[in-house]
Amino acid sequence: MRYDFDTPVNRKNTNSYKWDIRQGELPMWVADMDFKAAPEIVEAMRKRLEHGVFGYGTVPKEWYQAYIRWWRDRHHFEIDKKWLVFCTGVVPAISTCVRKLTAPAENVLVQTPVYNIFFNSIRNNGRNILTSPLREVSNSNGEFYYEMDFDDLELKLKNPQTTLMLLCNPQNPSGRIWDRDTLARVGELCAKYNVTVLSDEIHCDITKPGVEYVPFAGVSDICRDNSVTCISASKAFNLAGLQSAAVMIPEKNLRHKVWRALNTDEVAEPNSFAITSTVAAFEEGGEWLDEFREYIFGNRKLVKEYLRDNIPELILFEGDATYLLWIDARKVIKRVDPDNKNLAAFIREKTGLYLSDGGEYGMEGFLRMNVACPRSYVQEGLLRLAKGVHIYDQG
Ligand SMILES: Cc1ncc(COP(=O)(O)O)c(C=O)c1O
Repeated sequence: MRYDFDTPVNRKNTNSYKWDIRQGELPMWVADMDFKAAPEIVEAMRKRLEHGVFGYGTVPKEWYQAYIRWWRDRHHFEIDKKWLVFCTGVVPAISTCVRKLTAPAENVLVQTPVYNIFFNSIRNNGRNILTSPLREVSNSNGEFYYEMDFDDLELKLKNPQTTLMLLCNPQNPSGRIWDRDTLARVGELCAKYNVTVLSDEIHCDITKPGVEYVPFAGVSDICRDNSVTCISASKAFNLAGLQSAAVMIPEKNLRHKVWRALNTDEVAEPNSFAITSTVAAFEEGGEWLDEFREYIFGNRKLVKEYLRDNIPELILFEGDATYLLWIDARKVIKRVDPDNKNLAAFIREKTGLYLSDGGEYGMEGFLRMNVACPRSYVQEGLLRLAKGVHIYDQG
């Protein structure tokens, strides 16, 4: 490997949200990485820093080209320059779209379990969260994964109060990559019931080596013309603190509406590092990303094998994207419920391992583990997990 993912980077005292924890704790929760960004990105930012002037910026053609080239080469999807609007993040774009594309008290549909902030964007804007739970299925190897429940989905989309669907593609927290047929069906149903689709594709570049995701807008004309897609270099290249994303809206009337809304909310202008870092990521970060994917899917394999051999009552759901692992702990939780605490809180208290609780994503009984960290952290995390479950069992 050309890049080093093994050496720990001390993130204490850097105002890190993830590492704002107690002494001795191991944070494997919030979705950022414990790796330095690709040296190519750091170098581009260093040059920008050394220029020393940080006035108001514009969005240059290099930014559009970087997205267009990356999606053409990596995802076989041709983006038209005029479809793209800069935004300071995917979550700001989602909140803006919720406000602009729906009216108060209307339903915004989400498929649970799902990225917890979707709930905030809907609730904080006075809209109603309508959930269509994903279906758990297993294959002949006894592996579990999610599928969409189209009967339930159609029922919810049919409701005349439902006007927007937030699609997570690939899916956070399980890492499921939706296939073309599934996305086409979503597109057809949403068009049939006049529900706009917002496809959050922020995890799309973090796929298992050899596996690709399918851009929703590339599936059919129906999907393209009824969708807003949020994309960014931030998740795959660990640039979340730089606040940079793109909103892609191919259909012209919808685009005008969203473009106006992003500008009204003042989230369409870049800070001095937003453009530089994104362009460097897409233009020069490909090799780093491919090694990173090898590394984190190695981490995923380690967790899967460890759970199978040592804590078989915890089941890792299958997914070919993201560094977030979705672990079914319902067999453990059924056995004992000491102090009425959720399992994640119990494990944190007893072992210092900080995982996310499934309830935050709309699904009780699960744990979410972030493995975008050196393998030594994962090994330590697994020992703590085993210890935590063991103590829980004794309770
Ligand atoms: C599905 C999903 N969307 C959006 C975000 C955050 O996006 P941003 O930091 O650009 O607001 C995350 C972060 O984990 C995420 O998982």
